Amino acid sequence: MSTTTELEVAVQEAASGIAKPRILSGIQPTADSFHLGNYLGALRQWVDLQEDYQPFFFVADMHAITVEQDPKLLRQRSLVAAAQLLAMGVDPARSAVFVQSHIPAHAQLCWVLQGLTGFGEARRMTQFKDKSAKGGEGAASVGLFTYPVLQAADILLYRPHFVPVGEDQRQHLELTRDLAQRFNHRYKKTFRLPEPYILRATSKIYDLQLVEKQMSKSLGGNGCVWLLDEPAASAKRIRSAVTDSGSEIRFDPEEKPGISNLLSIYSALSARSIASLEEQYAGQGYGALKSDLADVVVDVVTPLRDRTLELLDDQAHLTDVLKRGAEQASDVAEATLRDVYQRVGFVAPAQ
Ligand code: TYM
Repeated sequence: MSTTTELEVAVQEAASGIAKPRILSGIQPTADSFHLGNYLGALRQWVDLQEDYQPFFFVADMHAITVEQDPKLLRQRSLVAAAQLLAMGVDPARSAVFVQSHIPAHAQLCWVLQGLTGFGEARRMTQFKDKSAKGGEGAASVGLFTYPVLQAADILLYRPHFVPVGEDQRQHLELTRDLAQRFNHRYKKTFRLPEPYILRATSKIYDLQLVEKQMSKSLGGNGCVWLLDEPAASAKRIRSAVTDSGSEIRFDPEEKPGISNLLSIYSALSARSIASLEEQYAGQGYGALKSDLADVVVDVVTPLRDRTLELLDDQAHLTDVLKRGAEQASDVAEATLRDVYQRVGFVAPAQ
């Protein structure tokens, strides 16, 4: 019986000169556009890390259906998601960009990992608790419950060194590491324990209206800046962001959550330190800062939006990129899955 071992994969990779450390991340296509929180918390890092790492980036359509989706809309949003990734600079020549459902190994490894996941362990996941809070646990799908196990499978299949995400994914990464360790211990070392790559300054961008909540697709509303909105509409949202009492421009997330969030966004988008912004706007009041930040946001989202719309005009190119991405991803994922199946004791199909 022939299985490709981890070592053989490493040797093949080294021989082909692509043995850079790997990164992997995914994003759900559950809205018509990504938002500024996605961009600053995760996606910008995806683009930056392409230089020195070997990246795998995917559209998590299988995660999306853990809550009800309109099929036509899901298909459309998945393509819009891929177009946005390319528009922001994810380069298919360096990164494997693919759609999760194109790689059956994700679901297959998820099943194996479910056998290693404790019921209580899954129930402790705060995202499950939050998402099932509305209708009650009884109304939540089993898929929502096992969502983090699929996420662990997504990650472990590619044996990445780092997973660039926002703060809200930290707990899922801890579960991923626990499952990897458990598998390695029970069978044989198979998985790499991935590290979260979370940039503190932008790991949690808050809603512009409900400043205690993180900006999110599900919250929507006027406090969310969508990358594909008309730039003028986004500028307006920034200008009408809720700020705090007083007028001093100071970074103090406890006392001044609204203005601190704006300073974080401004600093990240302009590559200027928060201290220099505090200094520049000292004595000027909130209006000046909001108005300048609105301009900065417009400068960032306008080309991104234009490029996304252009890419969506050429769907053949887009689907070709995704096909090539899936081919690259599949080679790696299938090799890992073969190792896993062999180690858990599944009979190999005759060649
Ligand atoms: P998703 O689709 O909710 O979000 C995509 C990425 O954006 C980050 N993010 C934020 N960062 C800072 N501030 C915010 N307000 C904010 N909102 C979202 C998220 O942390 C995430 O990095 N479960 C994942 C998708 C996924 C995945 C994976 C990620 C599926 N499989 C494997 C990594 C590895 C999710 O729902 O992300």
